Amino acid sequence: MADITVTEHLLLHQKRTPQATGQFTGLLYDLILSGKSISRRINKAGLLDILGGTGEVNVQGENVQKLDSIANRIMLYRMERCGALCAMGSEEEADLVRVRSEFPRGDYILIFDPLDGSSNIDVNINVGTIFSILRRPEGRSGEVSMDEVLQPGLKQVGAGYILYGPATMLVLSTGQGVHGFTLDPGVGEFLLSHPDMRIPEQGHMYSVNGGNWKYWDEATREAVSWFRTSETPAGKPYSARYVGALVADFHRTLIYGGIYMYPPDAKKPNGKLRLMCEANPLAFLAEQAGGKASDGYGRILERVPDKLHARTPLFIGSVKDVEAVEKIYARHRA
Ligand code: AHG
Ligand code: MN
Ligand code: MN
Repeated sequence: MADITVTEHLLLHQKRTPQATGQFTGLLYDLILSGKSISRRINKAGLLDILGGTGEVNVQGENVQKLDSIANRIMLYRMERCGALCAMGSEEEADLVRVRSEFPRGDYILIFDPLDGSSNIDVNINVGTIFSILRRPEGRSGEVSMDEVLQPGLKQVGAGYILYGPATMLVLSTGQGVHGFTLDPGVGEFLLSHPDMRIPEQGHMYSVNGGNWKYWDEATREAVSWFRTSETPAGKPYSARYVGALVADFHRTLIYGGIYMYPPDAKKPNGKLRLMCEANPLAFLAEQAGGKASDGYGRILERVPDKLHARTPLFIGSVKDVEAVEKIYARHRA
């Protein structure tokens, strides 16, 4: 039978990339296992009394949903034991989580958003886990220090997400294109369903929370208006789409093209999205798929984070659509 499992795919790629080690493949394997566990919990959420909030507010100032906390614990538990990591950064943890000495330590650092789009859980709309994999700088050992973690996105050795949608999908890049796998729940395996995903050069959809209009500056208003008034290559108006879960909005953008935007505004001058656990991994995927990711002025992957939970504006998707925004911002800045 022709089905290619994700494990088979990873082993094939490992052969082709000299820097890929068994440790790295093992890391991905445990990441996939965590994703399967989270997927199972989400599928049954309505039956297990795990919908709704925990009553806590996280380091980002947002209400913690019970499933945010469950997904975070599943990731931390499994990944601390995978043997490939020395430290982890989670959207739900204020500080860096160092792998404790009772567990085998490796050379990689994992940064993740355990559950993205969690305000959608109670209404049964897509959520996902986003992850970014960095390598510890050469020659460092002992306790991991923060400067080893604060690397620009260019240094990522792998990134991806697991989308818990109508089907659970893994979308992954280890620097050799972007590949999508769909979970076959019967056999419990991710099978290659979307080999070599490419973002169209220009799309026909734009995605932004237009409710923030009154907080936007002139440049942002003009950028959003450009999509509201311009024509697509087919000579039709752009369509508006906004799920409110970055991972789902990005997944659509990856497949159909177009643009997802979270601009800065008067209340959030650096935007809302987190550079290390949201923007960087998706920017890595976008570039690997032939698209573009910008903060409005320059490449997301070149930004050097000043802290673990640094935020950034994000414009991501088709090259031509992202360039249209950059031109408008450049003109306003001049
Ligand atoms: P999270 O659920 O991990 O906190 O992320 C929520 C983010 C992102 O998923 C989404 O695109 C964005 O918040 C939506 O924000 P608005 O409700 O401000 O549009
Ligand atoms: Mn998120
Ligand atoms: Mn989250």
